[in-house]
Amino acid sequence: MPILYDEKSNTLTIVTDHTSYQMQVDAKGYLLHLYYGTRSAGCMDYLLTYADRGGSANPPAALGDRTYSLDALPQEFPFQGAGDCRSPLLRVRDASGAFGCDLRFSSFRIRDGKYSLPGLPAAYDEEGDDAQTLSVILQDPRLGLEVELLYGVLPRLDVICRSAIVRNEGKGALLVDKLESACLDFVHGELDLICFCGRHAMERIPSRQRVEPGSRLIGSRRGISSHQYNPLLVLADRMADERVGRCWSLQLVYSGAFRAEVERDQYDQIRAQMGLGEEAFSYPLDPGESIVAPEVIMSFSAEGLARLSQQLHEVIRTRVCRGYWRDRERPVLLNSWEAFYMDFTGEDIVGMARQAADLGIDLLVLDDGWFSDRNDDTKALGDWWVNEEKLGCDLGELIRRVNGLGVSFGIWMEPEMVSEKSELFRAHPDWALAIPGKHPVLGRDQLVLDLSRTEVVDALFEQICSLLDQGNIEYLKWDYNRSIIDVYSHGVRDQGAVLYRYMLGLYGLLERVIARYPTLLIEGCAGGGGRFDAGMLYYTPQIWCSDNTDAVDRLTIQYGSSFGYPSSAVGAHVSACPNHMNGRVTPLATRACVAMAGTFGYELDPKRLSKKELDTIRGQVQDFRKLSHLVREGRYWRLGDPQRDAVVGWEYVSADGDEALVCAVVLRVEANEGMRYLVPCGLTPGATYVERASGRYYPADALMDMGMPLPGARSLYDSVQVHLLRCDGVADIKEGTRR
Ligand code: GLA
Repeated sequence: MPILYDEKSNTLTIVTDHTSYQMQVDAKGYLLHLYYGTRSAGCMDYLLTYADRGGSANPPAALGDRTYSLDALPQEFPFQGAGDCRSPLLRVRDASGAFGCDLRFSSFRIRDGKYSLPGLPAAYDEEGDDAQTLSVILQDPRLGLEVELLYGVLPRLDVICRSAIVRNEGKGALLVDKLESACLDFVHGELDLICFCGRHAMERIPSRQRVEPGSRLIGSRRGISSHQYNPLLVLADRMADERVGRCWSLQLVYSGAFRAEVERDQYDQIRAQMGLGEEAFSYPLDPGESIVAPEVIMSFSAEGLARLSQQLHEVIRTRVCRGYWRDRERPVLLNSWEAFYMDFTGEDIVGMARQAADLGIDLLVLDDGWFSDRNDDTKALGDWWVNEEKLGCDLGELIRRVNGLGVSFGIWMEPEMVSEKSELFRAHPDWALAIPGKHPVLGRDQLVLDLSRTEVVDALFEQICSLLDQGNIEYLKWDYNRSIIDVYSHGVRDQGAVLYRYMLGLYGLLERVIARYPTLLIEGCAGGGGRFDAGMLYYTPQIWCSDNTDAVDRLTIQYGSSFGYPSSAVGAHVSACPNHMNGRVTPLATRACVAMAGTFGYELDPKRLSKKELDTIRGQVQDFRKLSHLVREGRYWRLGDPQRDAVVGWEYVSADGDEALVCAVVLRVEANEGMRYLVPCGLTPGATYVERASGRYYPADALMDMGMPLPGARSLYDSVQVHLLRCDGVADIKEGTRR
């Protein structure tokens, strides 16, 4: 039983395979946080200390005891109003406009299975997971305010999920001005904060800093989780690295505006929190109404960052991603964007499909530019009818021609957007988010549709279906290319609810699309990786990781992404050189090596390649088919940091330890330098491995200790891929493969 109640100490303990999490209802009725860390039996309330602290207030429940202050006690769901002046998770106003509440424990319930959330994505459990849910009710009788804290535990995965439902059970209206989903309070500790920051075309670059007094705030005020800050936080011991040290993560299962804060208080205690963004948020709750905070996935590792990431990969890959494509081999695709941008004909697309067939590629993706008069990015979003003049035929005919070549067909769409220059906008100007009387702020010359309104979502669903019903469309790239600035909806009474309701509208729409087209592979995208989060992964099992396809920049982007997201989620393509974004030239083999750390595909015009390059690509596609199961499901290890190391590697090891793929790219060279070595991890101790290509044997323990010389990689941007197979002697080695 992963959730235990101890009546004597009034503690609730959540236990996973390697971790324990404990809370206590104290004598005053407040819900205190005691512990999250290495699995441990017993009661951890010895960690609580009490002192008369100048400047820290005492709630009425303290009955004059000046040593009792919520300002200094670790809590499960800190709120504004009872004397904790650190950053709260909840701030409410009553009908008089007064701020503040006083939430006390009321009851708890433990049930089997993991909770789900109405209208919001959340991790799920499967049979055999022994998942349980703890729900704890906190109440403020004066306001009729009730908060249900949800804890969903996946014990084998070492993951605890949290959410909170805020209900107005009273008689007067309430306004929720701040709602975070979860926090982690530490009574002491020298910790580093790692967050994942960036910009368009350079997303999720790790930034590691000591947690200093004061607050570090990250988040998004852009209506999407954003290129700038990913909704993932890692706290780690200052000495923690990939292999040692304690580390904790908070990861939001939400794709909209969010907020995450790490605060070191006056007593050097640390509070990390994560949840809904505060800006343009003020959510009205009439009597009987409620709001659900998005889920936060928490995990802990006492064995460094690699282990923490592996735990997150497993939960995202197997308990957040779902549906037909979750465990399936994904198609190798050829995308038209960097090949043609919007300048193509139907014959170009069919020609590309012919090349795809010749190269062994599975799927041709027709990117932007196929609809209405969309020949540049200033117009036509919303008018999703096919430009038959441009294509030379209708879409059904084009798809039949592509399929006739033995290639599947996929298409790009940006459903949530509308251009001012479009028939949709002319017909329904009020469907766009725009403040009456204020000219809207544009992004890429476009506006965002108001998905907080049911009629807009319904119309979008019809548009999407009428596109997908035109032929055998097996893949949809769901793009989103600007942020939300003007928050105003004609459909709601309170504008402070719009951003949240937008997300409910989007998630509802995606749910309807996947229900109607269960085998459709949807790849998320938002100007590359601007909405690369666990919320979207609930609907789209892969996301275009970045518009930056340069192999070297991608090493950093994919390295940062790997802290919280599995390779199966990372959309990655080989593109032409010099790279269209930064002009860099890298070997074709290296571009493939890096793209193979994701879903793998190409985004170039094969007609411009030499015969030799085409032959190489044919080989790469075949190679990837032998490796894709490892990339998709193997245990992932980072072997180096692209921001620091001259050679950066990464590795996948199959769950049974029978196979590993070790990859590396040379990022810095010097004349006449010594040999560089690569040290793999996670192989089976005592085993011997043979390298598939060379037939060379390696003893696993020595390999994990001293490593292997980097074979053949001597020049800048050279790469290696070493496919290791475990052998129990010399049998089957000549074959060179166990698969
Ligand atoms: C975004 C995407 C690109 C491409 C273009 C099309 O930038 O990230 O991959 O689809 O839009 O306009």
